[in-house]
Amino acid sequence: MNNTVYYDAAISDDARRQMLFDGQLFAYAPRPGSLAFVAHARQLIEEAFHPLDPERAQYELSVEQYAEVLGKLKPTFIHHPDSKRHLANVLKEIGCDPEKTYFDVPKMRSSTSDNYLTTGIAYAWHPHRDTWYSAPLCQINYWIPIFDIRTDNAMAFHPRYWNIGVKNDSDRFNYYSHNQQSRGAHVTSYLKSDPRILPKPLEPLELDPQIRLIVPAGGIILFSAAQMHSSVPNTSGRTRFSIDFRVVHIDDVKDKHGAPHSDEACTGTTMRDYLRVTDCSHIPDDLVALYDDGTTDRGKSVYAPV
Ligand SMILES: [Fe+2]
Repeated sequence: MNNTVYYDAAISDDARRQMLFDGQLFAYAPRPGSLAFVAHARQLIEEAFHPLDPERAQYELSVEQYAEVLGKLKPTFIHHPDSKRHLANVLKEIGCDPEKTYFDVPKMRSSTSDNYLTTGIAYAWHPHRDTWYSAPLCQINYWIPIFDIRTDNAMAFHPRYWNIGVKNDSDRFNYYSHNQQSRGAHVTSYLKSDPRILPKPLEPLELDPQIRLIVPAGGIILFSAAQMHSSVPNTSGRTRFSIDFRVVHIDDVKDKHGAPHSDEACTGTTMRDYLRVTDCSHIPDDLVALYDDGTTDRGKSVYAPV
C-alpha cells in the first residue's frame, strides 16, 4: 500500500528507492548541504529582484517585466557551476552512491500568487505524473523549497492514483519534439496562454483528499516520477520558489526497475539528460538504448537549457 510518509528515515538509498517505487513519500529536514543549496539560490533570486522582496515582487512588476526577470534568473541558476556542486552534496548527504547516481540539471521553479502568472515560464502545474513527460519509471524527483512554504502555496500529491490508470493525453507527447519546440522560446512567450503539449488527465480526478508536505526552506521531499502531483493554487500572497531535480540509479536503469507502469503513453526518453554525480558523465549508450523507441529523429534528443 502507498500510505506512508517517512520523515528523516535512516535507511539505505536502495531501500528508500524501493519504497518510493511502491508509492511512499519521503521528507527530510534541512541539512547543511541543502541549506547551502538554498542559500545559493536565494542569493541569485535576491540579486535578480533587487531591491524588491522576491516573494512579493510580483505585486510591483508588470507580468512582462516579471517574466523577463525569471527568464534571466532561471537559466542563471541552471548553468551556475555551484548549482551542480550543491546538488551533488545533497545527494551524498542523503545517502546516494555518487558512482551510481545520476541527476538532471537542477531547475528553479516559481509559483506566483493570485493567478498573476501561471503560464510559460511560471507554469501552474495541473495534476500529472512526470512519467507522462517521458521520465523513466525509475526516476525519483527531489523537491526543495527555497523559502518557507505554507499549505496555500505548496505542492500536492494525489496518492489515490498510485498505480491506477487515468485517461490522459500523454500519447501526444514526444520528448524530443518537446525539446525542439518548447524550449528556447522567448521568456515572454505564453504569457496569456500556453500552446505547448503538456499531458494532462482527460477525466475529472478526485483531488481530495490530497497530501501537502510542508517542510522548512531547505527541507527535501522525494517522490516517484509516477506519483500524481500538482501545484496548489497559490493564494498565499507570496511567490513560492523551489528547486527540483530528478535522479536515477544506474542499477535501476540497467534492470528496468522502478514504479509500476499505469497509464503512460508518451514517446522518447529523458535518459540522455542524466549526469553522474562523480564526473557528470552520461548514462552509457547501451543502457539508453534500452529506453529508446526510435523517435529521436522527431527533435532534440537531449535537453539543452537556454
Ligand atoms: Fe512534475
